[in-house]
Amino acid sequence: MIKILGNNYLQSLLTILRDRKTNFVVFRETVKEIGKFMAYEIAKELDYSDVNVETPLGIAKGKKRDDEIVLVIVLRAALPLVHGMMEVFRDSYLGVIAAKRIENNEDHAGLDFGVEISYMKLPNIDDKVIIIADPMLATGSTMISILSRLKELGKPKRIILATIISARPGVERVMKIHKDIDIYTLAVDNELNSDGYIVPGLGDAGDRAFGTI
Ligand code: URA
Repeated sequence: MIKILGNNYLQSLLTILRDRKTNFVVFRETVKEIGKFMAYEIAKELDYSDVNVETPLGIAKGKKRDDEIVLVIVLRAALPLVHGMMEVFRDSYLGVIAAKRIENNEDHAGLDFGVEISYMKLPNIDDKVIIIADPMLATGSTMISILSRLKELGKPKRIILATIISARPGVERVMKIHKDIDIYTLAVDNELNSDGYIVPGLGDAGDRAFGTI
């Protein structure tokens, strides 16, 4: 399934990111804030048990999250997004993946860019809820490769993809190959340009967050 988080507050944060005049400090802080509220939205739909809790004055009914979370950072643009998510999922395990598209691969047919995964370090993922954070789901090539590699490592309970902007063609490709994943996003843009960037999108999320433009 794909869930678009359409609430006005998150959409106002997305508008700050899209604005070309937003400087990298504000951009990075805004991505972090989005991460926090996306994690809150995801947390609403995890599994919880009913528990009793002892207060200083008696016993109350409460809830305890059953799901163990593995947050996965796709370097580098996801760093501030994960930073924000960890404010909600304080007890999450953390996995790190360095992956990039091979940009000047002349062989790519349409959306099918080559992908190089140069680093991957994950905790045990069996029975856990994996949340892969990547602000931009563009062609889907990187995500398809990451999901395939991840599934070789174990059997997670659930895999969630947390993105800020998704491109419709990328969503369709990922969901065709990995039907079992859930995507949380703030927007689905229709187009990709010939370099595989999302239009209108927000530009290069890594460059904009780290001031490397
Ligand atoms: N990565 C980005 O940072 N931006 C895009 O538009 C596509 C991929």
